Formats: sequence, C-alpha cells, structure tokens
Amino acid sequence: MSTEEEKFRLLFVDDEADILDSLRRSFRRDYEVFTANSGTQGIELLKSEQFDLIISDQRMPDVMGDAVLKFAMEHQPKAIRILLTGYSDMESLVRCVNEAGLYKYITKPWEPENLRLTVMRALESLSLERKLDTASRQLKQAYLDAVTMLSVACEGKDEDTGFHVRRVQHYTEALALELGVPAQEAEHMGVMSILHDIGKLYIPDSILKKPAKLDDEEFKIMRRHPEFGVRILGDNPFYEMAREIAACHHENVDGSGYPKGLAGEQIPLSARIAKAADVFDALTSKRPYKEPWSIEQALAMMDEQSGRQFDGVVVQGLHRLHANGTILRIMQEYHAHEVPQAGVPVFAA
Ligand SMILES: [Fe+2]
Repeated sequence: MSTEEEKFRLLFVDDEADILDSLRRSFRRDYEVFTANSGTQGIELLKSEQFDLIISDQRMPDVMGDAVLKFAMEHQPKAIRILLTGYSDMESLVRCVNEAGLYKYITKPWEPENLRLTVMRALESLSLERKLDTASRQLKQAYLDAVTMLSVACEGKDEDTGFHVRRVQHYTEALALELGVPAQEAEHMGVMSILHDIGKLYIPDSILKKPAKLDDEEFKIMRRHPEFGVRILGDNPFYEMAREIAACHHENVDGSGYPKGLAGEQIPLSARIAKAADVFDALTSKRPYKEPWSIEQALAMMDEQSGRQFDGVVVQGLHRLHANGTILRIMQEYHAHEVPQAGVPVFAA
C-alpha cells in the first residue's frame, strides 16, 4: 500500500473453499482481498503481486503454510505473516515462528471477530511503521540538504553549484566502502565530508576571492580555515566526524601539512579519505580558469604524492574505483565537467 487512500492488500491461502469464501466475505469491504486455494497458487501470487498481510492455513496438500510464509518472508519481508493452525501442528508452528518471522498464529477454529481485530491491529502497526520510515527518510534528507546548503553557501564564494560537494561526498563514501568501512559509517563519512571547508565562511572575501597570489599574511589567515571549521561545527557529537575532517583535511601523511603537521595514522582515516576525494575532484573538475584533468592525469599526480600528501592505501582505493567504473558514474551523475557560473579562481589553500 503506497498511499492512505489505497486499501491494504490481503492474501488468504487455504485449500478449503468454504474458509476462503468466508474470509473473503468478512474482509473485502475494508481491504483488497486475494485468495489462493493451494500453497502453490499462493506462492505464484506472491511472485506477481505485493501484499501487506498474508494469512495461510498450515495443512494443505501440496505446499504447507509454513513454506508459503517462509517464501513470503524472503520475497516480501515487510508484509505481515499470520498462520492458521490446529493445536496438533505445534512442531510446524515452532518451525514457522522461527523460519518465517511469524507475526502471529491463530488456532482453529477461530472467532471471526478476533481475526478481524488481529488483522486490524497488525495493519495499524504496519501503517505506523511506514509513517515512521517516511518521517525518518524525510528527516535524513532534510539534514543532508541543510548540510549541503550550508556548504554550498560557503563554496558559493568560489563555485556556485552544489556539485563539487556532492562529488566529494560520493567519492568519500565510495572510497570508505572500498577500504572496508561498514556501509552506514561510509555513508555518514560521505555526508560529513561535505562540511570540510565550512571554515572558509570565516575567511574574508578579499582573501578568498583575491585574483592574485596570496601574500604571507593572507596565506596565514587562509590556513586557519580548518580551525574555523571546527569552531563552526560546535560540540554536537553527531558532527564529530565532520570536525575531524574539517580539522585534518590539509594534513599530509608525511607530516608536512597543516595546521598541526600530523603524520600517517595520526590523521583520522575520514580526513585522509576526504582529502583525497577533495583534491581528486578539484583536479578533474572544469573550472572557469582551467580544463579538467583526465582521471589518469589526476591519479598519476596523486600516485606521485602517495606517501607524501596522500595515504597510499587511499590512492590505491581510488585506482580501484576508477577500474570498476565508480568514479566515472559519480562524475556523470554530478556533472564534473560543467563549468560553474561563478567565475573567480581561488587558490587552493
Ligand atoms: Fe580546505
């Protein structure tokens, strides 16, 4: 069921025509009811239709109810599964509870009103679960949008599309995955990498947009953007990874970077990854003042800096992402070769 106006879709599986009839009659007013008169037919329907709730009799001549519900669990895991069973079928009941993720079993003979209530409650909880799912998806999207808006507002000083941060996000996530970071953490790392240059908000435009080489004093200020970033990101534990990326994305593994001159594994993995993603994107992007480098050219430069600016393991990961087409896919999806409209070159700091 995709919207509230739609009726929930129920599937009843039973080899007794009378039972199917009475089930159909008592539910069809409120729900869209499908019936199958054998386990085999039930499985066929599960292959072609989506259901919200499935009720199956246990004892059927061809395929037993627990097998039908197990199939349902594997193919439509979100649907609620209920087994109709006699007291004598305890063994299959236990199997079904364990293997088919049963919501409930109902022993025969059942009270029609009880069955109606059971179905109603199950669908209410399903509906609630879906609303929660939607709400948490919307919330996640909202925070992603907020983070992106903030960083685009900041990047907007030198590039007015959101694509740069999006590419860095996706390169970071893909690299993290490639290096064995668990999926959820890799996704989080990607989102947090969006904020790596947020500290540039504190850098005056006269420096950020200066169309000439920065003098020593200006460089000094520019190089404070990691520190400013950490300050802006506050102390919410949720942004811990964003802070470490902001703080360390200009550190080099050989210790020659800034602000602290950290080396090797003193630099958090998230920052080593986001740095490589950021530089790789800068090299391969088209800017008003430069043509994009080819992926090979960018990787060759990064190879050369492997063990100096960059963690060699991370650069190797980039090579693999190139070999399997991930990089190209991200580039195409997030318009790597479009020229941003804001046209002021900025000096990498
Ligand atoms: Fe930076």
